[in-house]
Amino acid sequence: MLEKLGRNLPCWCGSGKKYKNCHYNMDMHLEALAENGEEVPTHRMIKNADQIARIKESCKVNLAVLDAVGKEIGPGMPTSRINEIVNDVTYSMGGIPAPLHYEGYPYSVCTSVNEQVCHGFPSKHVILREGDIVNVDCSSILDGYYSDSSRMYCIGEVSDAKKKLVQVTYECVQLALEQVKPWGHLGDIGAVIEQHAKENGFSVVEEIGGHGCGLEFHEDPFVRHVGRFGTGMVLVPGMIFTIEPMINMGKKDVFTSRVNNWEVSTVDGLPSAQWEDMVLVTETGYEILSW
Ligand code: MF3
Ligand code: CO
Repeated sequence: MLEKLGRNLPCWCGSGKKYKNCHYNMDMHLEALAENGEEVPTHRMIKNADQIARIKESCKVNLAVLDAVGKEIGPGMPTSRINEIVNDVTYSMGGIPAPLHYEGYPYSVCTSVNEQVCHGFPSKHVILREGDIVNVDCSSILDGYYSDSSRMYCIGEVSDAKKKLVQVTYECVQLALEQVKPWGHLGDIGAVIEQHAKENGFSVVEEIGGHGCGLEFHEDPFVRHVGRFGTGMVLVPGMIFTIEPMINMGKKDVFTSRVNNWEVSTVDGLPSAQWEDMVLVTETGYEILSW
């Protein structure tokens, strides 16, 4: 009786539909999986159609910023100029750069050059030169909804080794996307990334991972970029998270700057690359929200 009553109440997701016509079947399935010892998502990780639509609007800002950076980036540009572009485009579209003041982060974007792995500070003293590879990691807030993605830019002619690193990292994300489907496992993402990176003689940074994103900047789950097939959290439609592998040309070890406590670089000084996208688990597979 109680259960029947519950089934006729509005769904917890906020869709306004009755529970029985919305997430009821999914919840029953998840409950059964959990009883079998599987790790399952919480309701908080599952977005409704309205939230997804708003997050997509935020992603439009995110992508416009990266497009604008791509148009202008090149040799001779200080990375501080990237910070200006991010501010100009984001504010002009009614958004706010998410990194600014996030846990004390002092800029609007992360610009990580060569051996820098992530969280590089834009600076007027860091001038991009021919042969550099740089990750521009952009995160935006629009009407309270978050988006997060990053791209690699090659400055002029870069070495074949760096080109391969950038290309293989891109392929890692593509392969990971193919693993994103309802009732799949989060561990499949890490597994394909690790496999592809290692096959190409590269290593995967383990300390930093992807994350749920949308209602907040960083939500659960933590998305590892290494792992084993068939392990980790079960995926269901409505989950949104980033895939953002950091792939190193040399060893996987990284360290955080003791000067500013943010910038992460490789220990061996060899280059690192990263691409980040935000992906939605759909009824049939996945949808890329920003890249
Ligand atoms: N954009 C980064 C990510 O992908 C987060 C950077 S944290 C910041 O999660 F404070 F530096 F913005
Ligand atoms: Co991210």
